[in-house]
Amino acid sequence: MTSIHDWIKNQSNHLNQVTQFDQNDINLLLCHLLSINTAWLYAHQEHLLTAKQIHQLDLWVEELKAGKPLAYITGNKDFWTLRLHVNQHTLIPRPETELLIEVIEQLDLSPAKILDLGTGSGAIALSLATLYPDAEITASDQSAAALKVAALNAKSNQINNVTFIQSNWFDDINADCFDLIVSNPPYIDSEDEHLVNLSYEPLSALVASDHGLSDFKKISLAASQFLKPGGVLMFEHGWQQAESVTKILENAGLVNTSTQKDLLQHNRVTWAYLKV
Ligand SMILES: C[S@@+](CC[C@H](N)C(=O)[O-])C[C@H]1O[C@@H](n2cnc3c(N)ncnc32)[C@H](O)[C@@H]1O
Repeated sequence: MTSIHDWIKNQSNHLNQVTQFDQNDINLLLCHLLSINTAWLYAHQEHLLTAKQIHQLDLWVEELKAGKPLAYITGNKDFWTLRLHVNQHTLIPRPETELLIEVIEQLDLSPAKILDLGTGSGAIALSLATLYPDAEITASDQSAAALKVAALNAKSNQINNVTFIQSNWFDDINADCFDLIVSNPPYIDSEDEHLVNLSYEPLSALVASDHGLSDFKKISLAASQFLKPGGVLMFEHGWQQAESVTKILENAGLVNTSTQKDLLQHNRVTWAYLKV
């Protein structure tokens, strides 16, 4: 029998040779396997693992070594205040996207109707649902498989004010007037060298034509028909895209654009208003 302490030690020797994952990933694999939290893990280092458990852990470590993200192994990712289920049909929600939620909170909008375009796992829509429990929230995606995950996440987080709709951007959205439209659309250029590191995530969630800008253009051009006067359209975007996204919003007739930087001081979220 091998203790938690010994298995971790064994893996740590290994970690010196590989760099794709770290000690934290190893700890989280153990937490996932044993359905425990890290406090329990640290307090019970002498707990013995069975041969079957070690076999499972070793298989997962092989997957990590092959570049599979931890969230696709454990099947979940924490975002904002929520634990979200994720799978190969959904992007793994990124910490940068939490900035979008923070910006909305700081704008003090009190939106009654919100639309999240390209909801994926539901990360943005469901977080906004916890902030605005009285709002009517619509979350859409072109991927039926992603929407299934998002709906499951609404249920597991006991969120009841989000409606899910399969739609190519605005195509099947009712001509309604939203106070706030948010989107973290695909924005990576197909030639981007970083794409090779994202090979486990759906390309349809990552890549857009026109240097990654095509979906910002499609959404911005149609948005004014779906916004209330004074309503806000807000995007997450790549760190070098703020200037282009600002121009796209202005060309679509929206006004008072602003951009917020993320913790790494990269321009990350840009928004604009429909004229009153
Ligand atoms: C970058 S992911 C964002 C997922 C999630 N909102 C998040 O922030 O974690 C982009 C999402 O847009 C969806 N998408 C891509 N093209 C779309 C389209 N034409 N219409 C609707 N959704 C689309 C993808 O399926 C994917 O879920």
